[in-house]
Amino acid sequence: MRLEQTIFGARFRNPVMLAAGTCGFGEELIQVTDLDALGGLVTKSVTLEARHGNPAPRVAEVGSAMINSIGLTNPGLDAVRTEKLPWIREHLGNLQVFVSVAGHTPDEYYTIVETLNDESGFLGFELNLSCPNDSRLGGLPFALDHGALEEVMRGVRSRTRRPLLAKLAPNDPAIGATAALAAEAGADGVTLVNTLPGLVIDAATRRPLLGAGPGGVSGPAIRAVGVHAVWQAKKSTEVPLVGVGGITNGEDAVQYLLAGASLVQVGTASFADPRAGERVVGGLRAYGKKMGIAAVDELVGAMKPPGASDG
Ligand SMILES: Cc1cc2nc3c(=O)[nH]c(=O)nc-3n(C[C@H](O)[C@H](O)[C@H](O)COP(=O)(O)O)c2cc1C
Repeated sequence: MRLEQTIFGARFRNPVMLAAGTCGFGEELIQVTDLDALGGLVTKSVTLEARHGNPAPRVAEVGSAMINSIGLTNPGLDAVRTEKLPWIREHLGNLQVFVSVAGHTPDEYYTIVETLNDESGFLGFELNLSCPNDSRLGGLPFALDHGALEEVMRGVRSRTRRPLLAKLAPNDPAIGATAALAAEAGADGVTLVNTLPGLVIDAATRRPLLGAGPGGVSGPAIRAVGVHAVWQAKKSTEVPLVGVGGITNGEDAVQYLLAGASLVQVGTASFADPRAGERVVGGLRAYGKKMGIAAVDELVGAMKPPGASDG
């Protein structure tokens, strides 16, 4: 199966990327995995100032999920421009890289995008819209507040011609409408989904397991939620979709493609196995061979209707 595709005017050698916050800026993973085997990666979300993150413990494994409250630890805009992007330029030239951007006000997004826009070494921006916006806008995560989402999308759109991905939240009862709004306001693609809000309580101590209290749930337990979100979004917008949530192998990725995603991202699975992304690429190739599929884009949105058997 041919895995190569041209999306956002760029060549992706395969549809598998690494998800924001689970591969840093690529520096650690390059020691243990062949990043060139992947289609691309999304950096840790960049904020204006460096963030040192939340109190420990910041991650815990719970059943078939992980919960984290890292607190967007990142070196901040200046260090990303002067240290991380030069490293990416030098080492990740074959990958399609998206810089993830996070903030609490539209102006924070604008400053980050304007500061990085003229740098080279990356394809586009993925806007992490799961951060709560400021109280002037309502205090909800941008992705769950249509007015705030539209404001930040339009503002960023007017400041860059690079491909723009809007990353949405899974706990959105109107995910299709939100994806359509993001596209109308200037997103070239929509990434679904970020972590699902959750809380794990240690019964022995009666305290939350994580140092910060609640966190974001990720891993196989949220895969069905992500696939459903992609399927809903596909009915509402024609921009390319990027599926993420619980992908551990090729067939997990195939589910997202069938629901309508053109690209997928691997997140939590990389913690257990830094080569998870490569494994997903191999699994996709094997699936294509087994099913006699010539090119990966034949799978996109090709889910059959429920119910009837093929027999
Ligand atoms: C430890 C950790 C850190 C994350 N940091 C970010 C981040 O900085 N920005 C972002 O948009 N998403 C972040 N995410 C969410 C992932 O990119 C992804 O959307 C989510 O984990 C679902 O995919 P998965 O089940 O494959 O992990 C993070 C997830 C984890 C587990």
